[in-house]
Amino acid sequence: MPENHRLFTKTLLDWYDPKARPLPWKGEDNPYFIWLSEIILQQTRVEQGRDYYIKFKEHYPTVHDLADAPEDELMKHWEGLGYYSRARNLHTAAKHISKELNGEFPDTYKDILALKGVGPYTAAAISSFAFNLPHAVVDGNVYRVLARYFGIDEPTDTTSGKKRFAQLADDLLNPKKPGIYNQAIMDFGATVCKPKAALCNTCPLRESCYAIANENVYDLPVKSKKLKKKTRHFHYLFLNKNEKVFIRKRVTNDIWRNLYETPLLETTPDGKLPEVLDIAFIESKTGYSGLRLVRCSKPFKQELTHRTIWARFYEVEVSDHFFLPENEGKEIERSEIRNFAFPKIIDCYLNDNSLYLF
Ligand code: ADE
Repeated sequence: MPENHRLFTKTLLDWYDPKARPLPWKGEDNPYFIWLSEIILQQTRVEQGRDYYIKFKEHYPTVHDLADAPEDELMKHWEGLGYYSRARNLHTAAKHISKELNGEFPDTYKDILALKGVGPYTAAAISSFAFNLPHAVVDGNVYRVLARYFGIDEPTDTTSGKKRFAQLADDLLNPKKPGIYNQAIMDFGATVCKPKAALCNTCPLRESCYAIANENVYDLPVKSKKLKKKTRHFHYLFLNKNEKVFIRKRVTNDIWRNLYETPLLETTPDGKLPEVLDIAFIESKTGYSGLRLVRCSKPFKQELTHRTIWARFYEVEVSDHFFLPENEGKEIERSEIRNFAFPKIIDCYLNDNSLYLF
């Protein structure tokens, strides 16, 4: 191992104190719980993931409990975490482990990687934490730490850049303590070598850090492509029939599959979200008739990785004779609406009754 690699790893391990950032999955040796925590933590902040992890452990103490859970219940527990394909994949993998592997969690990197929803990062985390296997985690935090410390300005999102960082991460891993090393670099990236407001003045690696010496901490790491986001405009119709309202499950291969929603109209986004749609326009586009607009909300916004969603919510009254085919909406009591899992933007609307235009 080159001297600067040795210094990096030793300094990081000397710095690491597991108690400095107590997390409920630290020190855990049950691979099922570790897997659960790592799936929850994909694309989720630790502060938010922590409560979900505790809740999932409580509801599903074994992989069999998770495998046998009704899908709607699982989605309801996942509600608010986003990236719902994680929950669907978690369920699929739990069924596989429970039924085909007799509940035995796979114990090699290759078999862990083969689980639905597990990529190289998660496989490295699980195999090092649960089985002490020598696989280095590489994610946004690790790119940042390594790019800054070693002064690497090669983009992290190209094939050769990814290969270079993965190779370096593997070289740096302490093969005797892979789990501790991986948790150390995660904690270090999250609490010291932060994207903004990094703690360079008190950093244990400051003497030998390339980016500190060259005053380019915030220029690293580099990405080649900037994410171009598309915008979508949704107009949700709360079709109120006395105390009832219509909802349906999203089943197509689009965002938010398996979550619930109300019937909606999507308009083509050319610029800003349109003003309140005319009820006659809504009727002509949906084919529904006899709608009476009672209230309309202000615009709501939700940012997804590749999309910006703008939405308005229309409270509409319909007559006792109004009905929809099953796939377009089923009637539920409005008071029971919270029993279903909705995308965050609908939850925001349901939680904030003040945001009405009229
Ligand atoms: N992010 C992903 N896995 C993590 C872990 N085990 N601890 C802290 N943050 C994480």
